[in-house]
Amino acid sequence: MSGKDLVFAVNGERFQVSSIDPSTTLLEFLRSSTRFKSVKLSCGEGGCGACIVLLSKYDTESDRVEDFTISSCLTLLCSINGCSITTSEGLGNTRKGFHPIHERIAGFHASQCGFCTPGMCVSLCSALVNADKSDGPKPRPGFSRLTVSEAEMSVAGNLCRCTGYRPIVDACKSFASDVDIEDLGFNAFWKKGDNKEVMLENLPAYSAKRHLVTFPEFLKKEIESCNVLDQTKYRWSTPESIEELQRILGGKTLGGNEGSVKLVVGNTGTGYYKEREKFDRYIDIRRIPELSMIRKNGSGIEIGAVVTISKAIDVLKEESKVSDVFTKMASHMEKVANKFIRNSGSIGGNLVMAQSKRFPSDIATVFLAVDATVNIMSDGEYEKLSMEEFLELPPVLESNTVLLNVEIPFWSVSSRPKTEFLFETYRAAPRPLGSALPYVNAAFLARVSRWESSQCIVVDDCRLVFGSYGGEHSIRAKKIEEFLTGKSLNYSVLYEAVRLLRGIIEPCKDTSYPEYRKSLAVGFLFEFFYPLIENSNTTPSFPRDDSKRKRKNGYNDLENSRVLLSSAQQVFESSEFRPVGQAVIKVGAAMQASGEAVFVDDIPSLPDCLYGAFIYSTKAMARIKSIGFRDGVKPIGVLEVIDFKDIPEEGQNVGSKTMFGSGPLFSDEFTQSAGQRVALVVADTQKHADMAANSNCAVIEYDTEDLEPPVLSVEDAVQRSSMFLVPAVLYPKPVGDVSKGMAEADHKILSDKFRLGSQYYFYMETQTALALPDEDNCLQVYSSSQAPEYLHSVIATCLGIREHNVRVITRRVGGGFGGKAIKSMPVATACALAAHKLQRPVRMYLNRKTDMVTVGGRHPMKITYNVGFKSDGKITALELEILVDAGMDVDVSPIMPHNISGPVKKYNWGALSFDIKVCKTNRPSRSAMRAPGEVQGAYIAEAIIENVASSLQMDADSVRKINLHTYDSLGLFYSHTAGNADEYTLPSIWNKLEISSGFEQRVETVKEFNRCNVWCKRGISRVPIVHEVMQRPTPGKVSILSDGSIVVECGGVEIGQGLWTKVQQMAAYGLGLIGFNGNEELLEKVRVIQADTLSLIQGGFTAGSTTSESSCEAVRLCCDILVERLKPIKDQILEKTGSVSWEVLIQQAYAQSVNLSASTLYRPEFSSMQYLNYGVAISEVEVSLLTGATEILRSDIIYDCGKSLNPAVDLGQIEGAFVQGIGFFMLEEYTTDENGLVVQDGTWNYKVPTLDTIPRQFNVEVLNSGHHKDRILSSKASGEPPLLLAASVHCAARSAIREARKQLFSWRADNTDKDGFDPAFELPVPATMPVVKELCGLLSVEKFLEFKIAGN
Ligand SMILES: Cc1cc2nc3c(=O)[nH]c(=O)nc-3n(C[C@H](O)[C@H](O)[C@H](O)COP(=O)(O)OP(=O)(O)OC[C@H]3O[C@@H](n4cnc5c(N)ncnc54)[C@H](O)[C@@H]3O)c2cc1C
Ligand code: FES
Ligand code: FES
Repeated sequence: MSGKDLVFAVNGERFQVSSIDPSTTLLEFLRSSTRFKSVKLSCGEGGCGACIVLLSKYDTESDRVEDFTISSCLTLLCSINGCSITTSEGLGNTRKGFHPIHERIAGFHASQCGFCTPGMCVSLCSALVNADKSDGPKPRPGFSRLTVSEAEMSVAGNLCRCTGYRPIVDACKSFASDVDIEDLGFNAFWKKGDNKEVMLENLPAYSAKRHLVTFPEFLKKEIESCNVLDQTKYRWSTPESIEELQRILGGKTLGGNEGSVKLVVGNTGTGYYKEREKFDRYIDIRRIPELSMIRKNGSGIEIGAVVTISKAIDVLKEESKVSDVFTKMASHMEKVANKFIRNSGSIGGNLVMAQSKRFPSDIATVFLAVDATVNIMSDGEYEKLSMEEFLELPPVLESNTVLLNVEIPFWSVSSRPKTEFLFETYRAAPRPLGSALPYVNAAFLARVSRWESSQCIVVDDCRLVFGSYGGEHSIRAKKIEEFLTGKSLNYSVLYEAVRLLRGIIEPCKDTSYPEYRKSLAVGFLFEFFYPLIENSNTTPSFPRDDSKRKRKNGYNDLENSRVLLSSAQQVFESSEFRPVGQAVIKVGAAMQASGEAVFVDDIPSLPDCLYGAFIYSTKAMARIKSIGFRDGVKPIGVLEVIDFKDIPEEGQNVGSKTMFGSGPLFSDEFTQSAGQRVALVVADTQKHADMAANSNCAVIEYDTEDLEPPVLSVEDAVQRSSMFLVPAVLYPKPVGDVSKGMAEADHKILSDKFRLGSQYYFYMETQTALALPDEDNCLQVYSSSQAPEYLHSVIATCLGIREHNVRVITRRVGGGFGGKAIKSMPVATACALAAHKLQRPVRMYLNRKTDMVTVGGRHPMKITYNVGFKSDGKITALELEILVDAGMDVDVSPIMPHNISGPVKKYNWGALSFDIKVCKTNRPSRSAMRAPGEVQGAYIAEAIIENVASSLQMDADSVRKINLHTYDSLGLFYSHTAGNADEYTLPSIWNKLEISSGFEQRVETVKEFNRCNVWCKRGISRVPIVHEVMQRPTPGKVSILSDGSIVVECGGVEIGQGLWTKVQQMAAYGLGLIGFNGNEELLEKVRVIQADTLSLIQGGFTAGSTTSESSCEAVRLCCDILVERLKPIKDQILEKTGSVSWEVLIQQAYAQSVNLSASTLYRPEFSSMQYLNYGVAISEVEVSLLTGATEILRSDIIYDCGKSLNPAVDLGQIEGAFVQGIGFFMLEEYTTDENGLVVQDGTWNYKVPTLDTIPRQFNVEVLNSGHHKDRILSSKASGEPPLLLAASVHCAARSAIREARKQLFSWRADNTDKDGFDPAFELPVPATMPVVKELCGLLSVEKFLEFKIAGN
């Protein structure tokens, strides 16, 4: 069939693409061929939401437009023919004015680095557009029809690594028709105490009419005439009938030479099965009526295979009145992936992936349970199969089989008296609301009857389906179905069923957590049937209210018990140093929201630009014999492969540098570790470079003959004396006499051991750089770096050129968290090397997998300790032995002993000694990650306190309290950093939080809860922190231009932490000291500009939480100089005219040739450059004993910011850091395999917190602790310390688990069983679901049933 050109609209502009590789994604097109760069690439696999756009589809027949979000990283460009795309800059922008979404995101302080923000805005926009299309009651002016609950869910699939989500959710809720505006969090629109009218007036107005996303008229007209693409031109076929599809599949349309073909619907499957293969032709099957129909008749619903999951959910919901089964199916399917994947992913695509590729599908499980059937077409033959038969066929993808549709039968209420249908679905996943594959899913359908005589419930028949457990596909547990059929339910029957199930759930080899998965399956079965047994003895009818049924038995089902997020913030704005101290909106926040803020990868490419991708080693300690490509063929687009041999003779193989030494850019003849960079592929596009460097294409030949085996553990490192040297100044000093302390102890815990794992940065923007060769052997390098000065020096050293030949520029960084300090250097250096060699621009944007495999992350460590303590919990001595795994390069690892020891000292241990070794292993080199060593140090202290408390059978809070420092003991442990007595605010914060959070009473409530609930337990914990930070010398430069506008340069880099905002405030304050009214006016005149290593030298690192304050001080000093120079002119003018404006003053200063540029290097006083930060958190959690899920019910924090330079920025830092800490303690596993190669390599297996895993109630007070004479305008740091407070969540979980273990122990027939209750168990970090479940008892259901059977 002939067709037309590919035509679509982006933000109202018409695009016509006359030729394109059909595998091109919408994201690739938008980013490389349009100016719309708000769509960001972060994961490339549908798991983060950074790339989403609003897709609008016009239906000519109904004259209606459908609007929904899709992930542009997976959507193929050809599939959007005739559609309109809206990106965040299309909603509003700096030139045409921002959309209220952008303004509210900015005003609620909901954008930090800004990389996730455009995606958030598009998600919210889609929710608004769709809510306002509905027929609900007209909302109040300025609001939408969206409900608060929908508003909260609108960004549920989007990841943000900076903010901790709370402010984003508040911005979303501000649009909801039913919001109580007073419930919204801290923002720039109103002040505490303002009345509602003022609040409403100040909120940027939203009008569904005015802010409508419109479908372009020109496109409507074209759609009528242009339906399908010209298939000869695009290698993209759009059959409109089954017959046409058959002809294409049979190769009969284009001369019988179709080559490899791929059926495609939403193409979201490529997010999981990253396609390496290129297809000759794509067949878009969405226009075939049989595949897209939805039909309802008396026997059920037929859903075409290309119907999207979102549409199928709507259809099922429409039928909810007919059958509960549909409601529950829909509710389960709402947890599949995320909204934007469900909007384009089809039912058929999901089932075919499950059938052919062992995809752990939820939909297959649910459909199998309801006895759905499928219709398929194979080589022109039609066949109807049960779901079971379909799943058991040989992979249909390997044949010409097309899935046509699915038929779901009606399951309605039984007409037989005393007989009932029960249907329930289950899913245990790291994120309760979706965006995570389940460890196990299940769906059960049962017909049961009540026997009046015996008060028993009998199973008439049932279908019990389990999936995603690591088997081939979803299965029916037929043995159990048969066993249960006809049986009257009682404990013994259920016990037997559970035992049978353990033999059925057999995860395949290499499935993670096989025993956990089995126990989950058991838990689900128990959950389904157990209430029937309990209920049969007590109430006369079946339980109808499922949410109550689940609650009663303690099943922690977030969906059924979902409470909206709530929060409170206490923030004090001080006016002493205005505008410093004010909660000024972050510089450029609205522009970040609209997506106009330029990140490195947004800089347009010059025409001859090349792209790089790293080939990395997959082995440790091996000789590299050769680097080549599969079949010896140079892949398409590849120009060069650059390795260490390409480094100029005058240069060095250096890729990073710190004060402790350097690390190589590439491995030489030997690779030291898996994940080490071996070479750089340089190609004509990023896609070609990535494809060539991929392990499916690039081949490294290794040889390990005669080589020592790699050092892959810290124990091995100790044995082989493989250590990095730690300078004496960084080695912590012991406190007191440990032997004496031990001798004084009543009790001791000796040689106790535990380990801490790593954590990946998961900045939303991966590592990226662009290098441009310039005249005379010079290079300009744009890098997303937290350490441009060091990078500058590394590039010069590597290339063997002088430093004045290099210029490094960093405007902003899309999240750093320490990972863009050392780890950004090799990326930019490799680009520089390639650009230098090839004399062409070279850029590189690491794909998520390469980033995860090569950057290392946080230091893992092993801790061994001896602790002595009195019977009342007072600790008398602690001896710590810590082995830190630093990996292969020195990086900044020698700081670890110092950093670990700081927060450990938060308690008065009596006496304390350290033996900390920094081990050099052949694993990825570890680097600084937000609170490096400090978070581990703080946790080590808590773990020991917990163990002391357990062994004394005391509550941990009392042990903490008794060991908190007095000011005197603080001085003993921290010597000169302790500050004055009035600065030691920890004891008062400790007490204040106790009262404000109702701690004591809640402790009692938790006890009561635990007494009443069997299958979920709660814990509550209060944790203090003491965190030492150090200021570093920092440069600054302030220049005043002739129109009075001000340009500020500072040593630090804006990484989302609000540095520019604080610096802007400080410049306005500093210059305002000349004596004007309203420094706020000056605020608007200040622009902080990008870091440029030739313009401002000695910038150092942006790290350690103090860069903002030091940069501010440097800027203040510059302002002092300028004020000094301007003062005489001001006095002259005043004398003459009696008044002076800023503009006139500057004009006059220009006329008199006054130097209006001042620069300085701020050098902090040695005696006060280090200081302590304090905070306390209380967290309460609920743990499900059946799934191991931990829900954070509430967290309260008080954190001392001194006099905050900007309380909005500091609040954001506190919340964001705390949530990142939750990731470390509870969710994020970052492990290596037996070769030392990183295992977790994307969003599928690395789970950062999402909005369903943050505290349901989150209260933060930014304490203003007043005057601190040695601090910059009395301020204190906020970037890293609050991360340590997340240990409170882990400790609360431990407390809940302890209750679970106590209970488990009480069920044991033999109480002396040594596997039973152990009060001093170790809860690993992160305390993921499998870990928690294992501690709560993998066999807890069996134990409970045995206990019941025994008559208890
Ligand atoms: C981030 C993410 C998270 C996810 N989470 C979950 C989850 O929690 N639970 C879950 O169950 N699923 C999950 N999925 C899977 C998701 O449901 C599927 O990717 C989606 O349904 C596939 O539909 P599609 O239209 O995009 O298929 P496509 O990607 O277009 O196709 C997938 C495969 O099926 C073939 N195919 C498609 N339709 C047919 C047909 N009618 N006949 C024959 N072959 C066909 C294609 O050729 C291709 O090989 C997730 C996916 C992503 C990307
Ligand atoms: S980049 Fe597309 S979802 Fe992450
Ligand atoms: S602001 Fe969300 S990732 Fe940085």
